[in-house]
Amino acid sequence: MSQATGLDVVTGAFSFTGRFIARRLMAQERRIKTLTNHPRRPGTEDITAEVAPLQFTDREALVESLRGADVLYNTYWVRFQRGRFHFGQAVANSRILFGAARDAGVRKVVHISVSNPAEDSHLDYYAGKAWAERALRETGISWAIVRPTLVFGQGDILINNIAWLLRRLPIFGIPGKGDYRLQPVAGEDVAEIATWAAEQADSVTVDAAGPDIVYYSEMVESIAIAVSRHPRFIYMSPRNAVRAARLIGRWVNDVTLNEPELTGLMEELLVSRERPRGTRRLDNWLLSNADIIGRKYASELERHWR
Ligand SMILES: NC(=O)c1ccc[n+]([C@@H]2O[C@H](COP(=O)([O-])OP(=O)(O)OC[C@H]3O[C@@H](n4cnc5c(N)ncnc54)[C@H](OP(=O)(O)O)[C@@H]3O)[C@@H](O)[C@H]2O)c1
Repeated sequence: MSQATGLDVVTGAFSFTGRFIARRLMAQERRIKTLTNHPRRPGTEDITAEVAPLQFTDREALVESLRGADVLYNTYWVRFQRGRFHFGQAVANSRILFGAARDAGVRKVVHISVSNPAEDSHLDYYAGKAWAERALRETGISWAIVRPTLVFGQGDILINNIAWLLRRLPIFGIPGKGDYRLQPVAGEDVAEIATWAAEQADSVTVDAAGPDIVYYSEMVESIAIAVSRHPRFIYMSPRNAVRAARLIGRWVNDVTLNEPELTGLMEELLVSRERPRGTRRLDNWLLSNADIIGRKYASELERHWR
């Protein structure tokens, strides 16, 4: 375990993936500082961290906020383009952050990316993630890249909101035949892989994927079993599924599953081609959290855009 300074910086330690990394570091008795604009989120009261803003305009302040850190665990990204904000800006912001980490003398950046990024992807999210990875490799700092599939655990959005809908609706729409696969990974496993990556002498790129590959329809059924709901499943064309998701979005005042996200799902980009490093099973987590999941809608817009 690295002992260089005892201090690590995590972006978004009170957000979703970052909270698992923060807890893992706390268990390793590391001191944590987080860069975030949401310092107190319900469900993260156990996380102790010094807080500085996550911002990209005052470079000097950003460098200062990273000084003294051994590792920067970076979870910063945006889920979708909205208004005037596009993925190119998220790449530019990531580049600023990586450069600031180098100038602050941070030993290593562990960057959370996504499974199957590609610079030439027709999906801007996956292309942007690949460009952010490139920005990191070109920064001239020791790095590790961790590429999760679909992350599950307390605070997740997709699985929680599927459960939320299952609890409320007598019918549930499955895009296409639901026969595309995904490989969910536990937040705790992502954190273990990230802290392992921080210890590697070489720069490494690894997937973070769980032990089970499941069909989307199977995953929805598992969630329905966990929350004891048995709605009628209807199979919809992807186009109609996106329309339905938009309608639901209007109902809950949020952006729910959007078209590029559905395309990525149907193209099985949330399946790893590597031996799985994660060990925790989604089914077990669903059953042990059956009372909690889907009780409250989790809004992406509420979390990051309002
Ligand atoms: N969730 C998944 O299933 C999943 C799957 C594969 C890969 N990933 C990758 O894992 C990383 C973390 O994802 P996550 O879902 O755990 O995200 P998250 O915790 O909701 O957000 C991660 C960080 O990005 C910041 N952020 C998010 N949206 C923002 C916005 N619109 N404007 C400004 N800052 C924003 C957050 O700021 P605050 O701290 O202020 O909230 C936080 O620091 C991302 O790189 C994502 O691409 C996630």
